[in-house]
Amino acid sequence: MSKLISITSAVAVILLTVILLSHIRIASAPFPDSSGRHDSSVLSAEPHLHIKLTLAEKLWKQSVEDRSKMVTESGLGREFPDGYIYPYNVWDFARPSFFCPHDLERVGKLGDGGKVVCGMSRYERESPGPSSDTNTAPPLIVYSFGVNDDSSFEAALLERTNAEIWGYDYTVDSWAADIPDHQSSRAHFKRVGIGKETNESRTPPFFTIQDLMAANGHSYIDLVKMDIEGAEFDAMTSLISAVASQQGDHGRPTLPFGQLLIEIHFMKEGPDFSIPKDLEAWMKWWSAMEEMGLRPVNNEDNWVGDTVYGKPRFMEYTLIQAMDEERNKLLWA
Ligand SMILES: *[C@@H]1O[C@H](CO)[C@@H](O)[C@H](O)[C@H]1NC(C)=O
Repeated sequence: MSKLISITSAVAVILLTVILLSHIRIASAPFPDSSGRHDSSVLSAEPHLHIKLTLAEKLWKQSVEDRSKMVTESGLGREFPDGYIYPYNVWDFARPSFFCPHDLERVGKLGDGGKVVCGMSRYERESPGPSSDTNTAPPLIVYSFGVNDDSSFEAALLERTNAEIWGYDYTVDSWAADIPDHQSSRAHFKRVGIGKETNESRTPPFFTIQDLMAANGHSYIDLVKMDIEGAEFDAMTSLISAVASQQGDHGRPTLPFGQLLIEIHFMKEGPDFSIPKDLEAWMKWWSAMEEMGLRPVNNEDNWVGDTVYGKPRFMEYTLIQAMDEERNKLLWA
């Protein structure tokens, strides 16, 4: 009996040691930080993150090979997107093949409006909330494209992190009622549209993402939410070409987002935007985001799209920046 107890307590001591060791905060090597917002010398580092990154990258690379085989098998030239519903679905070509190295949490309302965030606990730890102008934690820079009648996601970020949020929607005048008055100085809203080019003569005016970032003095955004009803294709294409042309010879260009929560809509093209016309164009658009470091870690069907169109036309994706550890220290330090 006493032998059993001593074995049990030895096991307990070993387990406790392992648990304690895994929680020790190790300051990582400081990198130069252009923004100064998240100084890595004060970020709490997690062991094993780089092993996870290497494995996730390997899984993602395999999926890129697999999908090019799938393109060959399924054939090009069918009606898009509805011709790709069986046996391969149009969304099968963009599986979330990378994984989030932290927690995945759905933040905000349970229905349309809530978004799945990778590493919410990291944001809470490094930029603890609630958001206020007197909170001394480094701010979490958030952009929200497409507001409509739901700001439950933004309200949760303001409560749980020290977020400062810039929101844009040309269809509404303000945030939804979810944002409390005392945090209005942390949530900036403008009635503008997002598109492939800036045109301030339009009513309401339209802007590219890169022009809005420049106007706000941001070279990098920690977290981007985008739900702009089909305009996402043009907006991202315009941003990607702007980033590519700015980069010059300074290594591989990466998109200036730490994380992108995007709803993709295969809906009817409007006068203001175009959508991919075939499988090749869809793959080209998607791959351009991946080439600039974004990696899909989650997706979920948006039931609203299924109900309205009778087909799975809308999909929510969570992508994280995995090629720019220096700027994405919040997820990778
Ligand atoms: C900008 O918008 C105005 C007003 O709608 C329009 O007349 C003009 O052609 C637009 N400019 C460009 C470059 O598209």
